[in-house]
Amino acid sequence: MFVSDCLNINGKGHLTIGGADTVDIAEKYDTPVIVYDEGAIRKNCRAFVNSINEYYGGNGRVLYANKAFSCLEMCRIADDENMGLDVVSGGEIYTALKAGFPAEKLYFHGNNKSYDEIKYALESGVGRIIVDNPEELSVISALAKESGITANIYMRIKPGIDAHTHNFIRTGQIDSKFGFALETGEAMECVKLAVNAENVNLLGLHCHIGSQIFDVAPFVHAAEVMMKFISDIKNETGVIISELDLGGGFGIKYLETDEPVSFDAYMKPVSDAIKEAATKYDLPVPFILIEPGRSIAGAEAVTLYTVGAVKNIPNVRTYVSIDGGMTDNPRYILYQSDYTVLCANKADKPRDAVITVAGKCCESGDLIQENTKTQKMEKGDILAVLSTGAYNYSMASNYNRVPRPAVLMVKDGKIKTVINRETYEDLIKNDI
Ligand code: LLP
Repeated sequence: MFVSDCLNINGKGHLTIGGADTVDIAEKYDTPVIVYDEGAIRKNCRAFVNSINEYYGGNGRVLYANKAFSCLEMCRIADDENMGLDVVSGGEIYTALKAGFPAEKLYFHGNNKSYDEIKYALESGVGRIIVDNPEELSVISALAKESGITANIYMRIKPGIDAHTHNFIRTGQIDSKFGFALETGEAMECVKLAVNAENVNLLGLHCHIGSQIFDVAPFVHAAEVMMKFISDIKNETGVIISELDLGGGFGIKYLETDEPVSFDAYMKPVSDAIKEAATKYDLPVPFILIEPGRSIAGAEAVTLYTVGAVKNIPNVRTYVSIDGGMTDNPRYILYQSDYTVLCANKADKPRDAVITVAGKCCESGDLIQENTKTQKMEKGDILAVLSTGAYNYSMASNYNRVPRPAVLMVKDGKIKTVINRETYEDLIKNDI
C-alpha cells in the first residue's frame, strides 16, 4: 500500500501505520507527531542481518547508521537485533552508551572528530575508530599511548566513485570532504603512517559512496576498488587488512514510482565481487560490514500534521499550511526531496487536488512538497507525509523557537512514546 507495507487504510477510510489509526493518534497525541512502525523497522534489521549470514556465512556485521534517527529506543532496537552502530559524534556515542549499547560494537565515524570526542571514544572502549585524516591519526595514536591502550582503527577511503544522487549526499568522489583519495596516493601514504603509528592497529578500511542510491553497479564497483586497494596494501606493506566496511546508502521509496532494489539484489552481486577479488588477489575474504540507515527506518514512519490555513491563489497554486515544516523536516528546503502526501482522514478518497504543503516558519522556502497530487484538504484535516523516518527528526531544529515534535512507535497494536514533545520550557533551558 502506498510507499510502504506498514501503511494501510481502515474501514473508516483513515490511514493506518502498523495497524494503528493515524487520525486517532493525531487526536490523542497532538500534532505534529512522527509515528514509526517498530515491527517494520525490526523486519528491515533482520533482512540485513540475514543477508550477511547468507552471503558471507555470518562473517560480517550490520551497523545501523544512527544518524538517520538516533534515540535511546533505536539504539536498544539495534542492539536487540544483533547489530552494531555507526556513530558520528560524541553525542551519538553518549546516546548509545546511555541505552546500554555495548561500546565494542560502536564504529566511530566523522571527518573532524574533536580531541575530546576521540578521548571519550577511547575511554569508553568504542570498538573501531574510522580515521578520516592524518591529523586525527596522530591524536588517536598519542592518546592511546598516553593511556597504554591500542586503538583499533579503519581508514576512510574515497574510492573515486560518483554515485548518482543529490550533490550534497554524494561522498565517494575525489572532491569530497570525507576520507583519503586513492588516485592521489594520499590513501597509501596514510596507510603507511597508520602501520607505523604507535598504539594503533590498522584493522580495516571503510568507504561510503553516498545515500539514496538505486543502482547496484556503484556498490559493486566500490567493493572491487576496495579489494584492489587491500591487495596493494599487502604488496606494499605486507599488512593484511581483515575488515572491510562498505557503508550504507541503499535507496528507499518516497514516491510510488520509486523502485529501490531489494536487499538481496544488492548483497549478492557485492558478495560475488568480494569473493572473486579475494581469489584473484589471493586474499582471505574480509569480515564485511554494511551501514544502512535510511533503509532501516526511512519508509517506516509518517509525520502527521494538522492543516490550518488553505490559500488558493488563482492560476498560481494552493498553499496548505501545516503546524510543522522545515523545523521537523528540512529535507525539502535542503535537497528538494520528493514525498508522498496524503490526507490521513480521507485516505480512501481520490487524490485529485494539487497542493503545496507549507510549513509555519518565517521563510518562503519552508515547504514540504510543491504542487503534489493529494486529496482536497481543509482546516482541521490531518495531513500525513510518508517516509519521514530517516534524516527528519535527526535533522530537526528549533528555528523560530518551534518545539520538536513527539516521536511514537507502534508495535503489536500498542503505541509508545519514544521521544517526548519538546516544551516551551525545554526551549529556554540553556538560556541564561
Ligand atoms: N555510513 C556513513 C559513513 C554515512 O555517512 C552514512 C550517511 C551512512 C552510513 C548511512 O547512509 P544511508 O544508508 O542512510 O543512506 N541527510 C541526508 C543523508 C545524509 C547521509 C549521511 N551519511 C538526507 O536527508 O538525505
